[in-house]
Amino acid sequence: MAINVAVIGCGYWGPNLIRNFYENPEVEVSYVCDLMPEKLAKLARRYPTIKLTNSYDEVLKDSKVNAVVIVTPVFTHFKLAKEALLAGKHVLVEKPMCSTSAECHELVALAEEKGLTLMVDHTFVYHGAVRKIKSEIDKGDFGDVVYFDSTRINLGLHQNDVNVVWDLAPHDLATMDYLINSNPVSVHATGASHIGNGIEDIAYLSLTLENGVIAHLNVSWLSPVKIRRILIGGTRKMVVYDDLDPAEKIKIYDKGIKSEEPQTSEGRHERLIQYRIGDMRAPVFDMTEALKAEVEHFVDCIKNKTTPVTDGRAGLRVVKILEAANLSLKTGQPQSLEVAAGKSK
Ligand SMILES: NC(=O)c1ccc[n+]([C@@H]2O[C@H](COP(=O)([O-])OP(=O)(O)OC[C@H]3O[C@@H](n4cnc5c(N)ncnc54)[C@H](O)[C@@H]3O)[C@@H](O)[C@H]2O)c1
Repeated sequence: MAINVAVIGCGYWGPNLIRNFYENPEVEVSYVCDLMPEKLAKLARRYPTIKLTNSYDEVLKDSKVNAVVIVTPVFTHFKLAKEALLAGKHVLVEKPMCSTSAECHELVALAEEKGLTLMVDHTFVYHGAVRKIKSEIDKGDFGDVVYFDSTRINLGLHQNDVNVVWDLAPHDLATMDYLINSNPVSVHATGASHIGNGIEDIAYLSLTLENGVIAHLNVSWLSPVKIRRILIGGTRKMVVYDDLDPAEKIKIYDKGIKSEEPQTSEGRHERLIQYRIGDMRAPVFDMTEALKAEVEHFVDCIKNKTTPVTDGRAGLRVVKILEAANLSLKTGQPQSLEVAAGKSK
């Protein structure tokens, strides 16, 4: 039987989810709900079979609807997701999952209590390139991962409800969470606001993970050029993932260093560093649109009652880091994170 879906919010990102749910053969999209009639009007010609409404109540009261997809501003996620779970609907909610970790905790507990699927749209986790990198890391090809370095900058749309960390860093934090199976223990964030509203439009995050990996994230809405790049260093290999490279998004470098401290003839120890400069390989990967794979996964999890890769706990882990980063931006001090969220995979 088809999963009956309602999509809430059809601003910038919502139409991408509407299209992917609409095209999934196991799904029937019965509603799109938005508070702004002009946003709904744009969909009418393309999706004549979908009911367009501004009443969330109407959606929740419809017993045909099995799942609700929430693509509204961050501050609305908690209320809308909680109401959906209380009404017995499965939920896919946009990143970042909620405005606070307390809200994430509440949703995770509620979904578990009700036996409902709660999933977060951490889109990059479903990207073929990220999945390929994950399989290479898990095979042990990279050796031990030692650093994660990401740059996500452009002349971005200044948001008025969240800063650049909450807007852009969830992509990299969720990718790191998926690729490197370790929780951050501390985060130090610096940033600045340049338009006088106190909302940071440039920020740098430095993190240390439980397993000793260090990470650095550079996020900005104030860059003249667009860069979407993640660099991961392992003891054996290193990878560059450039999402804007049309032909070779992943490049795996057989490069590294080896350090030794042999004894000299005078009995002293001298550190020697050897460089290994090997080949570069650009592997092929599954080019399926990330949202298509994500929608399939959501449907699969509902049908088979399995836990999504990006479940509520993954959403919670990301929000905990965002909260700590905001505190660090305010205080100028590094913030420690208790490692309580736990890995759910
Ligand atoms: N995964 C990604 O790559 C990605 C990309 C962009 C945005 N997002 C996320 O998607 C969400 C929406 O972002 P956006 O850029 O589309 O915002 P947007 O402002 O363009 O659209 C939000 C829409 O939600 C509607 N809305 C607000 N409150 C509502 C309510 N209570 N009921 C029904 N509709 C309501 C608004 O009228 C608007 O049309 C955010 O959480 C954002 O972080 C994710």
